[in-house]
Amino acid sequence: MPIQATQYIWHNGELIPWEKANIHVMSHVVHYGSSVFEGIRCYAQPDGAGVFRLPEHMARLVDSAKIYRMPLAYTAEELSTAVVDVIEANGVAPCYIRPIVFRGYGEIGVNPLKSPVEVYIANFPWGKYVPGNHGADVCVSSWNRLAPNTMPSLAKAGANYMNSQLIRMEAEINGYDEGIGLDVNGYLSEGSGENLFVVRGDVLYTTPLANSVLNGITRSSILQLAKQLGITVVEQALPREMLYICDEAFFTGTAAEVTHLRSVDRILIGDGTMGPITTKLHKAFFDIVNGLAPDRFNWLTPVKVKVEETVGV
Ligand SMILES: Cc1ncc(COP(=O)(O)O)c(C=O)c1O
Repeated sequence: MPIQATQYIWHNGELIPWEKANIHVMSHVVHYGSSVFEGIRCYAQPDGAGVFRLPEHMARLVDSAKIYRMPLAYTAEELSTAVVDVIEANGVAPCYIRPIVFRGYGEIGVNPLKSPVEVYIANFPWGKYVPGNHGADVCVSSWNRLAPNTMPSLAKAGANYMNSQLIRMEAEINGYDEGIGLDVNGYLSEGSGENLFVVRGDVLYTTPLANSVLNGITRSSILQLAKQLGITVVEQALPREMLYICDEAFFTGTAAEVTHLRSVDRILIGDGTMGPITTKLHKAFFDIVNGLAPDRFNWLTPVKVKVEETVGV
């Protein structure tokens, strides 16, 4: 999806012009992948716009930075305020928000500790995605997800996405919409940029954090909704073949939101349509983010922006 420039980007406490938000080619991050980031949605609401689970995203960013020993000059609360400031300064909603923390220009060499930590927050228009309701045709990737104690999956680090890129490229080149990675032991892990849920009978399963998954914020929202809707939820290691015998499966993520899977490795899931449990959760999720149901979990942070509904690609 092409990036649509806005007017300002937040950089280390200041709003700077979009075109001035540049870095030197010798910055540490360019050579060694030393970045952590977030991806957040701001949704159009009937009476304005709301950022989805902003404190949770900022808490995860702070956690990611901590794992990589990146001292952050800002608290999660200050970063949340910065997100609201940049959205309001740009006057763009609905939108996608990309906060990023990285090691900048300082020293050459793997050790990052003497290179400065830079913080940027950008936002740009991202309207309603209209995927049709046909579901995603996915494959199990020949690439595994990150093995434990190699690259930490709980950090949303730029470098993790080299693995995601391999999974996604392979899937698309082979005619699938997305790939699912197995963990180092061959258990289901997650998509290149989504958490994974499957339904068998009336039980909803998802892979636990120990199977090399990102602690997804949409995942945790779906777990919360499922519990409230009285759906039995089991977090456990799942063998690959669960994908072939399940009744329903779906991805969750900031980009994917709740997307049902139609087939895995060309094996149809159920009859290929969105099953009843997925439909219930899908509706409960979208009712809240679109402001059609009360925000009973306090998931949305309001922003003062005139909403211009656009359709994304
Ligand atoms: C690898 C990976 N897993 C899962 C997710 C879903 O996480 P979230 O719901 O917080 O967007 C993402 C997206 O950020 C991701 O990149």
